[in-house]
Amino acid sequence: MKLDELLLDWYDVQRRDLPWRGMRDPYRIWLSEIMLQQTRTETVARYYARFLERFPTVADLAHADEDEVLKLWEGLGYYSRARNLHAAAKRVALDFGGRFPSDSASLRVLPGVGPYAANAIASIAFDECAPALDGNQARVLSRVLAWERPLKTPFDLEAQAREMMSRSRPGDYNQALMDLGASVCTPRRPDCSFCPIAACCKARELGDPESFPRKQPPIARREVTLTIVVARCPGGIAVRRRPARGLLGGLYEFLSLDGHPSLSEIPARLAAEGLPGAHLIAPLPDAKHVFTHLVWRMKGAAIDLPAPPQGFTVASDLSALAFPSALRVYRACAESLLETIEPGEPE
Ligand code: ADE
Repeated sequence: MKLDELLLDWYDVQRRDLPWRGMRDPYRIWLSEIMLQQTRTETVARYYARFLERFPTVADLAHADEDEVLKLWEGLGYYSRARNLHAAAKRVALDFGGRFPSDSASLRVLPGVGPYAANAIASIAFDECAPALDGNQARVLSRVLAWERPLKTPFDLEAQAREMMSRSRPGDYNQALMDLGASVCTPRRPDCSFCPIAACCKARELGDPESFPRKQPPIARREVTLTIVVARCPGGIAVRRRPARGLLGGLYEFLSLDGHPSLSEIPARLAAEGLPGAHLIAPLPDAKHVFTHLVWRMKGAAIDLPAPPQGFTVASDLSALAFPSALRVYRACAESLLETIEPGEPE
């Protein structure tokens, strides 16, 4: 049997039971593919149902308030995906009369839909023979082919992947490769004895499948040190919204200082930045957050501040505000601190 047949036979028995499978609604498939970018299936499964309950159709999403979309996305990370999702829903409603474009090239017009997602959606919802090449699929194929060159992008393998695809069940074929990559052909210790396509795999024949795909030199991440200052002001905690564009755009944040001043230096540093009268309440835990090209190394402090800094508002309830995962620890601290504020104090 050929590779695609072996793979599909395996998929028919071993496929993962995931909430976005077994239907062809392009809206639902699109949503799953966007949520699944950089996010684990188990995590997505929890968010997916909640999101669809609130926005059952693309029209519902198109009419939504962006704050509500971001709030439902909170914790999934990579928030530009949520903003693009919202923009794409509006685009479908306005430019496509509420119907999803039905081929990969037209899907790519939608904000946030790159070549991988476009091919995944087109193959699953519309049976287009388009390879959904992400890191997982590229790993499996680089092993099957014993591909010697490091991959700059998974689409370096596009021609080969397209050639190998099932013509009759392209969506299932793509998802079979995803499942195989997730369960058997894993980055480390691939389980070749359980692999349905082991007989077609050149890397296995060579005896070292784990060494594929061949490695790129590692990317250098810029390190940023900062101190998150959870400032208690009369009536609540000082927060502000980050600018809509750029890193963590549109999400809320606390006051922060560049670098890691010692705790006793913090009031003076704040005074030097035009915020006199700060008093230290307590140190807060350290935290680290790794972005694609950046690492935040954070220390934290809770302080009392007589008035909010310019550009900040005072929030007495954080539950309706979307904060980035990077600030999860400090948000929890801010919530504890809010409990120390007497109800009825002036805002
Ligand atoms: N990752 C990305 N798309 C997926 C899908 N449709 N099923 C499982 N994992 C995925």
